[in-house]
Amino acid sequence: MQSPSPPAACTGDAVISGSILVIGADGQVGSVTSRYLAEQGGKVIGTTRRAATTNAGDDRLFFDLSLPAEDWPELPLVDAAVICTAATRINECENDPDGTAVVNLHAPVALAEKLTRQGTMAVFLSTTGVFDFTRPFRRHDEAPSPVSAYGRQKAEAEACILKLDGKTAVLRLTRIMGPDMPLLRTWCAELAAGREITAYEDAFIAPITAAFAARMIHEIVSREVEGMFHASGDEDQPYTALAGELVCAMGADISLVTTAKGGLPHYPTANAPRYTTLDMSREEEMFGVPAPSSLATMRETVEFLVRGGPAA
Ligand SMILES: NC(=O)c1ccc[n+]([C@@H]2O[C@H](COP(=O)([O-])OP(=O)(O)OC[C@H]3O[C@@H](n4cnc5c(N)ncnc54)[C@H](OP(=O)(O)O)[C@@H]3O)[C@@H](O)[C@H]2O)c1
Repeated sequence: MQSPSPPAACTGDAVISGSILVIGADGQVGSVTSRYLAEQGGKVIGTTRRAATTNAGDDRLFFDLSLPAEDWPELPLVDAAVICTAATRINECENDPDGTAVVNLHAPVALAEKLTRQGTMAVFLSTTGVFDFTRPFRRHDEAPSPVSAYGRQKAEAEACILKLDGKTAVLRLTRIMGPDMPLLRTWCAELAAGREITAYEDAFIAPITAAFAARMIHEIVSREVEGMFHASGDEDQPYTALAGELVCAMGADISLVTTAKGGLPHYPTANAPRYTTLDMSREEEMFGVPAPSSLATMRETVEFLVRGGPAA
């Protein structure tokens, strides 16, 4: 699928050249990926579980992965499909492992099987949470060591999908950061009101933007490369660094930032994630794409939030 051809109808006998199905096109990554792939000349078809969107005449395909497979829509014969759907809340997965496994494990595996059987390459988005956060720069071939239900579901789905006959790829992501991040919005409002904010100094992230994830997805589908891939920031940074960047961008008083230790309450191990980075040497070698600076991602995101700068 090196050079996408002009748009074609979304169903038919032949695979539509240069066509990509984005499963979960309303999500943080799915929406940005849909736009990015279309900008690169792909014929993008998105799915939604929001009935109102499809009723409104939008050309989206209605697809709720929690429905039984026999109620799923007929899938268009596309070159590639990117599975961007997930139940991403750690707590929700912990409290309802069976319910959330439908969307995070069983449905994606069944869907990937259906896609590959019809000749469509299936790309599954996964997470650095398949590891236990005890070591940095996790390699592509390292055995997963999840410490949460979410991580376990994703690790199992990865393994099942990569074992399928047909073309498959898994892209693991570190934390996606954007100006809509609820924590940033809360901090911004608190600082603007002259109130204190609390940032953990022992919880770390290696953030990337959704745009960077979309770029990696494009590299994978346009080159039709298979196997495990990573998209990660270049180093782990504490939440206190993010708070510092926000204070700086807002011109606020740094004394309003209270630092705390003790882990994030939503991590079931009660441990703060210390290491979240993923090794990106394979991507640098194959695509010429190195890991982006975590600090720059933080800085650009808060500047965008505060000043409305260029899109991150
Ligand atoms: N965000 C991160 O920091 C991060 C980090 C690592 C990995 N990832 C992975 O990246 C992928 C995309 O994450 P994201 O941040 O874009 O998540 P998101 O914004 O929460 O989007 C998830 C999408 O899945 C859809 N969805 C949930 N249940 C569904 C169902 N039963 N049927 C159909 N659609 C359903 C949601 O629909 P609605 O919009 O209608 O709710 C939403 O559009 C996920 O696989 C996630 O595990 C994300």
